This record gives sequence, structure tokens and C-alpha cells, in this order.
Amino acid sequence: MQKIEDRSETKYYLITLKVNGDSYTRAVKANTLLVNFLREELDLTGTKKGCELGDCGSCTVLLDGKPVNSCLVLALEAEGHEITTIEGLSQNDKLDKLQEAFVENAAIQCGYCTPGMIMSAKALLTRNPHPTEGEVREAIAGNLCRCTGYVNIVKAIMSAAEEQQ
Ligand code: FES
Ligand code: FES
Repeated sequence: MQKIEDRSETKYYLITLKVNGDSYTRAVKANTLLVNFLREELDLTGTKKGCELGDCGSCTVLLDGKPVNSCLVLALEAEGHEITTIEGLSQNDKLDKLQEAFVENAAIQCGYCTPGMIMSAKALLTRNPHPTEGEVREAIAGNLCRCTGYVNIVKAIMSAAEEQQ
């Protein structure tokens, strides 16, 4: 990784990573968080910032297919890896099955937790296409929703899984 120095002596590092299938090379500070890199550098504001402490899951993205709290990952740590954000799920303007299921099951109220919730569910259904309700609840245990009470969220994820059968 190439280290760059600007005149103010703030150190920047050149990183290359893939986000939603596209490759990006950008200069970042050592302390730039992945969530801020995605939102501010790449304008991918679908990933939400909540607690910024790893507690709420609203910033969940996939790093090489695994869900991570992007507020706990440095952009530098994502160098050479593949990131998927909520923007990467729809294909040719068609929503992903999980996104459709959230709409159809009214699993959204304010929507702030929804991108993170869907990314955790996406990782679950990729590794376990036919989860039990308990496995769904476990997979989204790190994603806090202050609005819906979880019933419709769990229903939505279960119905997206059923559609895959
Ligand atoms: S903002 Fe990352 S876990 Fe809450
Ligand atoms: S829908 Fe509002 S926090 Fe989940």
C-alpha cells in the first residue's frame, strides 16, 4: 500500500477495493472508517450510521460476503477486499428478493435499520438458504430496530427464503 503525504503533513494511504463489483482506488487517512468512506467518498449513503460503536448494526455491509459493522472497520482494512452494500443488491433496477419481501411484508417503518437488517439477512440466506425462525432471529440479533417489533422483519426474511425453494 502506497503512503502519500500532503503539505499539511496529514498522512494518506492509497487503497484499492471492490465495492458492489466496481473497483475503486482512493487516498484515505489512517483513521477513516469504512462507513464514512462508503458514504462520503463513494456517495453510497444507503449504509446508515447509528451508534458508531458496533452496537446497532445499522452500518452493516458485507466484507467478502460476511456481515461486518462498517463503523468498526477502517477503510485501510478493506484494502484488496470486496464490499457489498445495500446499493449492490438490486440488479438492472430490479429489487433483490429480500428487498421485495421487506416491502411486501411491511417490515419497514422509519427504515433506518433496514439496509443493515437486509445485509445481515442476505449473508444468512447465502450461507443457509432455508433457515429456521430461530436462525433468522440469531442472524439479525446485532441489528436493532426501534420501530417494528421484529415480527414483520422475521416474516419478510422467512418469506424471501421460501421463495428461494
Ligand atoms: S453505526 Fe455501526 S453498529 Fe451502530
Ligand atoms: S424501521 Fe425504524 S429502526 Fe427499524
